[in-house]
Amino acid sequence: MSRENTVLKENVFINKEDESSKKYDSNISSKKDQREIKILAKDITRTFTVKNRGQKGVEEFVAIKDINLEIRAGEFITLVGPSGCGKSTFLDILSGLSKPTSGELYIDGKLVKGPALDRGIVLQGYALFPWRNVRKNIEYGLELKKISKKERKEISQKYIDLVGLNGFEDRYIHELSGGMRQRVAIARALAYDPEVLLMDEPFAAVDAQTREVMQEELLRIWEKTNKTIVFITHSIEEAVFLADRVAVLSANPGEVKEIINVDLPRPRKLGDVRNSPDFNWLSHKVWELLHNVEDKKSTKIIDEHRNIAEEISPTANL
Ligand SMILES: Nc1ncnc2c1ncn2[C@@H]1O[C@H](COP(=O)(O)OP(=O)(O)OP(=O)(O)O)[C@@H](O)[C@H]1O
Ligand SMILES: [Mg+2]
Repeated sequence: MSRENTVLKENVFINKEDESSKKYDSNISSKKDQREIKILAKDITRTFTVKNRGQKGVEEFVAIKDINLEIRAGEFITLVGPSGCGKSTFLDILSGLSKPTSGELYIDGKLVKGPALDRGIVLQGYALFPWRNVRKNIEYGLELKKISKKERKEISQKYIDLVGLNGFEDRYIHELSGGMRQRVAIARALAYDPEVLLMDEPFAAVDAQTREVMQEELLRIWEKTNKTIVFITHSIEEAVFLADRVAVLSANPGEVKEIINVDLPRPRKLGDVRNSPDFNWLSHKVWELLHNVEDKKSTKIIDEHRNIAEEISPTANL
């Protein structure tokens, strides 16, 4: 992405009236993207029945509302949004672990009715088996796939090495730190090698240095295996660094506010990308969306135009 483009995009972003902004702010993949649609979310709404505050009885709470999203095969999409806006709720629906209250989810054109082996998930809060050691946790999905013991061991060793848990293979989960547990969960999902990888803040509990190594490793694996990845994070830098597109969600109810195309060249190295003006600009744009700055900015610009117009002609109708 050239600097000129960035400036152009900046104008597009600021001037919300501009027709061309539609090209940039799209909730579907780029028109040039000929890859097949892997995941199609249509008007996904999820409500929960919760206790009525301060009163007797219950009420319906809308956690996410009318989420529409097309994700292409092999795409890396990150989801960001304020705490409680419904990111995990949406990911649970993508995994098939929970059902939408209304709307439909399709994977490979087929209506999703429950969990399936084509999707691997790294849940918020590890979800590891306490009665299994590190290696056995990582091998769990491979057992489901009926892979031989010898091959299971080879695969689990590869991912144990990758996440830096050599020497801890025989430890049980309660004997590990939070970051180590997180790494077991990541290794388990990767070892299982699903077509679609759903990751809910997978690096949140991992120390900063390991996090950077894991981000680059995840990109390397993704580039090699052509997985479709949906990745939730609270880190703007992480969201932009990893993604083809960043979906910014707003809260109450959770909706897709805007989708940002990240056309930074690949392969990406954090050290190089961090110094790139395009990366900083994209991160800033996501930051603004999360902080609702853009609405104020465009309102301010429209107000300024209105003032100028009124000076020229008091009857001007903008
Ligand atoms: N089982 C449930 N029953 C009632 N309300 C729920 C349930 N699960 C989630 N919620 C509510 O739905 C909303 C969205 O929750 P969710 O966990 O999806 O948010 P999130 O965006 O993942 O937040 P965080 O960034 O903190 O992980 C929250 O207000 C939460 O309280
Ligand atoms: Mg969550």
